Amino acid sequence: MALLFICEGEDPTDWESALRAEIPDLDMRVWPDRVGNPDEIDIVLTWQPPRGLLATFPNLKAILSLGAGIEHILRDPELPPGIPVARLIDPGLQSGMVEFVTMEVLRHHRREPEYRAQQRAGDWRLLRQSLSCDRRIGILGLGHLGAACGEMLTRFGFPVSGWARTEKDLPGIASYTGEDGLFSLLERSDILVCLLPLTPDTEDILDATTLGALPRGAVLINTARGKHVVDDDLIEALDSGQLSGATLDVFREEPLPADHPFWSHPNIIVYPHAAAWTLPESAAPVIADNIVRAAEGRELVGQIEVRRGY
Ligand code: NAP
Ligand code: GLV
Repeated sequence: MALLFICEGEDPTDWESALRAEIPDLDMRVWPDRVGNPDEIDIVLTWQPPRGLLATFPNLKAILSLGAGIEHILRDPELPPGIPVARLIDPGLQSGMVEFVTMEVLRHHRREPEYRAQQRAGDWRLLRQSLSCDRRIGILGLGHLGAACGEMLTRFGFPVSGWARTEKDLPGIASYTGEDGLFSLLERSDILVCLLPLTPDTEDILDATTLGALPRGAVLINTARGKHVVDDDLIEALDSGQLSGATLDVFREEPLPADHPFWSHPNIIVYPHAAAWTLPESAAPVIADNIVRAAEGRELVGQIEVRRGY
């Protein structure tokens, strides 16, 4: 089994040692310098592969994403058909996302951005505190990451609702589905967290209409993908007071261009796609399991439905 690592700009050293700790005789190659004979490549492990590259390996048995998202693979118009594709289901990615979303929910709940602005102005003033039971959280996407974030937030006493394609039965989390369900969730979300995959159905989902359906003064936390948000509509919603703040970790163009208005908007907190990283020490066992599954022709963990887009 030859595994090809394709991740431009990432040092493969830690990945090689973490994967070899799981599969000592792994034949790991690295694109572009150590590919060898393309006919010998069985599995690709990748983040943002160049378009057309995957089609150059005629004997591919599996494509494994280095992240939870999969759109960076599916966007390739020459993606070879019929090859199993798996997203990453990694406990480290999950705990990283739970930490990040909890941090940002608490930041907005406890009015931390306003306190920092007051500090800069030398303004000593108490701001009214709300009870967590009075701050309603809505989560778009109740999958591996959204459900775990929701579960953690219920522990703080926040009322949590979530929206998914299919009905969920998660303790303490109200489940919504469909377009009507989306608007029912939005109208009861003081803080809205986006953890949807990027698909043709979810692109641009956060626009003037959906942001306008939130309670006035709501907050958006987007840790999914930049293309979920219509940038101009978000700025308009913030400038009009419809939204009081936003934490954005992901952007249509990354790195966020230096002249993008998000950088300097007083009510936007920008992170450089830092919410949850894939770390070799936590992800290698999961990836190694999928390498073995691919070798044995078994279904992969996190195998996606290519037609559905996630
Ligand atoms: P997942 O397990 O596949 O969960 C996706 C959820 O979205 C599911 O609940 C799914 O519903 C729901 N969904 C998909 N399409 C929908 C639609 N059209 N309408 C309603 N609900 C829909 O994915 P995950 O592992 O939680 O990851 C979610 C996303 O987080 C990734 O795709 C990635 O973009 C993002 N992410 C970002 C970072 C970061 O650092 N910023 C890190 C990791 C991941 P069903 O359950 O009914 O199928
Ligand atoms: C990161 O954005 C991921 O999809 O894992």
